[in-house]
Amino acid sequence: MQEKLKWGILGTGNIAKVLARALVPSTTGELIAVGSRTQESADKFAGEFSLSRAYGSYEALLEDTEVQAVYISLPNHLHLEWATRCAERGKHILCEKPLTTNRTEAEAMIEAVRQHDAFMMEAFMYRCHPQTARLAELIRNQEIGEVRVIQAHFSYNMGLKLDNIRLQNEAAGGAIMDVGCYTASMARLVAGAALGQEVAEPEEVKGVAHIGPESRVDEWATAVLRFPNDILANLTCGSQVSVDSTLRIWGSKGHILVPNPWFPGNDGSPGKIIIQRSGQEQPEEISVPADAPLYTLEADIVAQHLAQHQAPSPCMTWNDSLGNMQTLDRWREQVGLVFDRER
Ligand SMILES: NC(=O)c1ccc[n+]([C@@H]2O[C@H](COP(=O)([O-])OP(=O)(O)OC[C@H]3O[C@@H](n4cnc5c(N)ncnc54)[C@H](OP(=O)(O)O)[C@@H]3O)[C@@H](O)[C@H]2O)c1
Repeated sequence: MQEKLKWGILGTGNIAKVLARALVPSTTGELIAVGSRTQESADKFAGEFSLSRAYGSYEALLEDTEVQAVYISLPNHLHLEWATRCAERGKHILCEKPLTTNRTEAEAMIEAVRQHDAFMMEAFMYRCHPQTARLAELIRNQEIGEVRVIQAHFSYNMGLKLDNIRLQNEAAGGAIMDVGCYTASMARLVAGAALGQEVAEPEEVKGVAHIGPESRVDEWATAVLRFPNDILANLTCGSQVSVDSTLRIWGSKGHILVPNPWFPGNDGSPGKIIIQRSGQEQPEEISVPADAPLYTLEADIVAQHLAQHQAPSPCMTWNDSLGNMQTLDRWREQVGLVFDRER
């Protein structure tokens, strides 16, 4: 039997705990260490997940030679710095989304990873679930004819909690960065599948947003993307308004509804794609089971593709991450959102 990949986590926040839990049933990986800005928080996290190694700085975790792969669960503005340091220490990397603050930073990160022969993947977990691969296949097979309109929405109402990184300009926050990044990545994947490519890049990006006067980031935003063949995508995101966070794809011969595009399988049920073909009385419901929980699939994909340095599409390839960051840059430019660190 293959030895398990030894993981360390940087940060002890919300999503760090999700991945720590997901590694418990993993057959390919095990969590052995955590690094935090404070020893107290590292100790608490280590206690919760029965880890023997709790480091009171991120640097100390990177000095642990037993740690082979690092999960970067830090705020967006810290992804580039810590992914670069991981690569320099020979660690493989699973980095939270969005990959960096902007495309220029993403290029720098990928260059560092390339130089040090590390594996790196942006942690869009929905790309790792077979529901997403099945969806791309349905589109590629023209099951709803030619794709014309994509509607991808991801928006929630967390209230105006200004101490949260999502509502901080200095942490490269905002809804576009937090959840708009999912909708952009999905539209690029679907348009790509329709065009016979892995992903497609929009020819045009138009966007509008509400920028909060206190947060100085977008609190709700929409965008319209035009891809080749005039495939149009309408994206909605927000941190101060709940919308139904679904995906709909409208084609020349029918449409597709994905009720749970972002967290497939997270409620314990299989993925579900509902397809209504023109001329058919009833929609067909396609069930897409997975072998493991959503975030376990993501960690397993890292372990399975270390030698290739990247995971295969529809998981996030480097090229896909670069294209997505560029789309987010263009969306932010439209709404006038500049981060302090970019000034
Ligand atoms: N894929 C997903 O499902 C998903 C879900 C949520 C978030 N995310 C992404 O994951 C990242 C972290 O999000 P989160 O929700 O886990 O955030 P969070 O709960 O605020 O945790 C972030 C952690 O980063 C560390 N940190 C370092 N500098 C910080 C600073 N200036 N302000 C706040 N925290 C700082 C802290 O850990 P220490 O104090 O221990 O150092 C903190 O606990 C973001 O990039 C986000 O986009 C992904």
